[in-house]
Amino acid sequence: MDILDLIVIGGGPAGYLAAQRAAESGMKVLLFEKKKLGGVCLNEGCVPTKTLLNSAKIFDHAKNGQAYGVMAHDVTMDTKTVLQRKNKVIQMLVSGVGMTMKKNKIKIVYERAEVIEKTKEGFLVEAGAERYTSKYILAAPGSETLIPPIPGVAEALESGLAITSRELLELEDLPGHLAVIGAGVIGLEMAAYCCTAGVRVTVVEMLDKVAGNMDARLSKILQTELKKKGVSFLMGHKVTEVNSHGLVCEKDGETKFAEADKILLSIGRKPVIEGCGLEHIGVAAEHGRVVTDQHLCTSVEGIYAAGDINGKMMLAHTAYRESEVAVHHMLGIEDEINYQTIPSVIYTFPEFAGIGETEESAREKGLAVKTAELPMAYSGRYVAENADGNGLCRLIMDQETGCLVGAHLLGPYVSEMIWGIAALIDQKVSVEELKKSVFPHPSVSEIIRETIFKL
Ligand code: NAI
Repeated sequence: MDILDLIVIGGGPAGYLAAQRAAESGMKVLLFEKKKLGGVCLNEGCVPTKTLLNSAKIFDHAKNGQAYGVMAHDVTMDTKTVLQRKNKVIQMLVSGVGMTMKKNKIKIVYERAEVIEKTKEGFLVEAGAERYTSKYILAAPGSETLIPPIPGVAEALESGLAITSRELLELEDLPGHLAVIGAGVIGLEMAAYCCTAGVRVTVVEMLDKVAGNMDARLSKILQTELKKKGVSFLMGHKVTEVNSHGLVCEKDGETKFAEADKILLSIGRKPVIEGCGLEHIGVAAEHGRVVTDQHLCTSVEGIYAAGDINGKMMLAHTAYRESEVAVHHMLGIEDEINYQTIPSVIYTFPEFAGIGETEESAREKGLAVKTAELPMAYSGRYVAENADGNGLCRLIMDQETGCLVGAHLLGPYVSEMIWGIAALIDQKVSVEELKKSVFPHPSVSEIIRETIFKL
């Protein structure tokens, strides 16, 4: 039997990049995908959401052009065209991934694959009626939406009253009133899209802050900006029941009702740890996540797990880096993942991007940090392009090393700037050195330079 170097299970960002990197290094690779190449990211997550949000942003600009001297009348958003464009974008990018696989001579088998056992030749994998053997396995089956065990949710899902982001991305007719459970990344991005498109949106969040563990001050500003656009928030409220009219929410023993004709479930995602046979060969999992180390090795030598399956940071760009690290380990190249320098972005408008320590997390770790912040309005380009709105740049420096350990930005284009700070933190460039860097003028990125001088 022909023995492969690597079998990749799952064709999402972790899987397809691992396959590509391995093939580029001369490994014989086979990729299994049971649905479509590109995974959640390309087909029903990152990319489709961004196309919808971009349409919403254009609509918002057109409706509010007066302040910029642009008068547009009777502007409407045609969700049918928005969805057609989204589907075209998906198609283009998915076929792009397919072409990359072809160029690298990676064979793709569109079947569900399952690891059966470890033999002396390698790992035996079954897919369809075929069996394959490989020296290494990289499991990248992704994650799925977490369905909250709230009374009434199952019935609401059944009737179509409750939906996940997957269904929302397919809605041609948006509801009149959307209730969103959870003010995390998905909840906020979808609230921004729907609200701009004219939907009444109520977000119910059990914590007192939006945006999970991202910087608290910036989260507050983002919440205020979304409120200004019309999103309502029920903070500190736990959804305790779903009925045919909406959500029953509770805070300190008091009950409130959030009316809705559609409910978005966005309380998180959970790794898919069963189905690709890892359980057959004793791969360790804890709290519903496959356990991996800094090289993405699992508890079974030769088996790697990259992407959402390990639940470390369920982001496509984390998956990319993890897959590279895993392949490097197979090849004996020294490398390891540093989760500290992986940026998080929420693509609302304004955008929210953060990396590394927040002031709170740094203090919890006992780091002596200095924080500096400046409003976005210190950037000339920001003022030129933003008649209203609000934004902030916050930088966190470790006083002991004189290096940045965290950065948090709220404003336009910040999703495009944060990688630079990731590199600076990664390379441990000192703030004094950074002061010599020249930023283009005018640019929103200059806010970083301005803030550096306040540290
Ligand atoms: P999340 O974990 O970001 O947020 C879930 C929120 O729901 C939390 O704030 C939590 O407190 C709240 N919650 C939980 N139970 C609740 C209840 N019963 N009542 C009220 N609130 C409740 O999860 P989300 O937004 O679903 O995102 C899932 C995953 O997808 C994340 O891992 C995220 O990183 C990823 N993602 C990333 C994107 C990006 O990078 N821009 C975009 C979309 C998704």
